[in-house]
Amino acid sequence: MSQKLEFIPQHETFVAECRGIDWSKPITKEIKDEVQKGIDKYGVLIFRDTGLDDKRHIAFAALFGELDDMSPHVKVGRKLRLPDVEMFDVSNIDPDDNLITTSDPARIAMMKGNALWHSDLAFNSRRSGYSILRGHQLPPKGTGGETEFLDARQAYDDLSDEMKKRLDGLVGNNSMWHNRKLAAPDYYKELEPLDYPMSKHKLVTNHPATGRKMLFTTSYVHHIDGMSFEESQALVQPLLEHAGQPKYVCRVEWLNDGDMIMWDNTAVMHRAIYEGSYFGKYRRDMRRTTSFDMGPEAYGLNDPNKIVRQGLNPVQTDKIAEPDTRAPDTQAPAIKV
Ligand code: OGA
Ligand code: MN
Repeated sequence: MSQKLEFIPQHETFVAECRGIDWSKPITKEIKDEVQKGIDKYGVLIFRDTGLDDKRHIAFAALFGELDDMSPHVKVGRKLRLPDVEMFDVSNIDPDDNLITTSDPARIAMMKGNALWHSDLAFNSRRSGYSILRGHQLPPKGTGGETEFLDARQAYDDLSDEMKKRLDGLVGNNSMWHNRKLAAPDYYKELEPLDYPMSKHKLVTNHPATGRKMLFTTSYVHHIDGMSFEESQALVQPLLEHAGQPKYVCRVEWLNDGDMIMWDNTAVMHRAIYEGSYFGKYRRDMRRTTSFDMGPEAYGLNDPNKIVRQGLNPVQTDKIAEPDTRAPDTQAPAIKV
């Protein structure tokens, strides 16, 4: 029996709420295919009140591509709050279950960095495809914690022909530390992002399912091949301002525990809203699965045989943290947490 899903657009060009999935039943191939069509078209799908737990959230995510996970961090002794390595912890809670406060500047820098436009894990050599974020426990209504998305395909389409030509073939060097330094310049004054590995992805990438191009100029882009840092930022920052105009942006509110949002990191950018009054007071327990980009540009211009991964949540709390950079199977030096 066919179960037709309903997609209710939330913006003129992207983002839809998807209704009609019975989350208490297994996800059939038919439903999966419809969700796939929906995410290809809208770039962001909102599922309300899923009632999913971590295991079923992970099982749903695994239908849409190979999952990235936190196992490299566990291997080097990182303590995780959540038992499943496929779950990325995007909460304001530390591994000992305490609320994060402003007394932890490295974590604050990480959270502020998350409030800059980005595409998940673009600083790794294999970039992300779909992120699926579930509000396991939301802060009280009216205390903030919304998430914003921007339509990076539409933002690209609307560029002048001259700018499109200028961007053609340009390669960005993506750095997690650059993003954090932008977010917390005083705290990371001494940190030089160039001392750490970066990953190379083109500034304009193709979306395989639709053939549309995307502006991949996230806040991780430190510099562009062949250009100085200053020249690169003078190109990238105005592009981010262009893409961040209200007409390309959709702010999504989290309404109830169990709400879940799926987005395509190869079509949209997103950011957390940092200013929420919940911060330091209420738990915002957000849990995310992240699949790899399964398309031909997943590795950008990086060597697929030389995997580069940079540190993920939970952020290290030592003053200037070591990035997590190694081939998956080699023993990495212990990192202080
Ligand atoms: C993420 C993210 C934003 C938020 O999970 O990748 O950027 O609002 N989250 O928590
Ligand atoms: Mn993110």
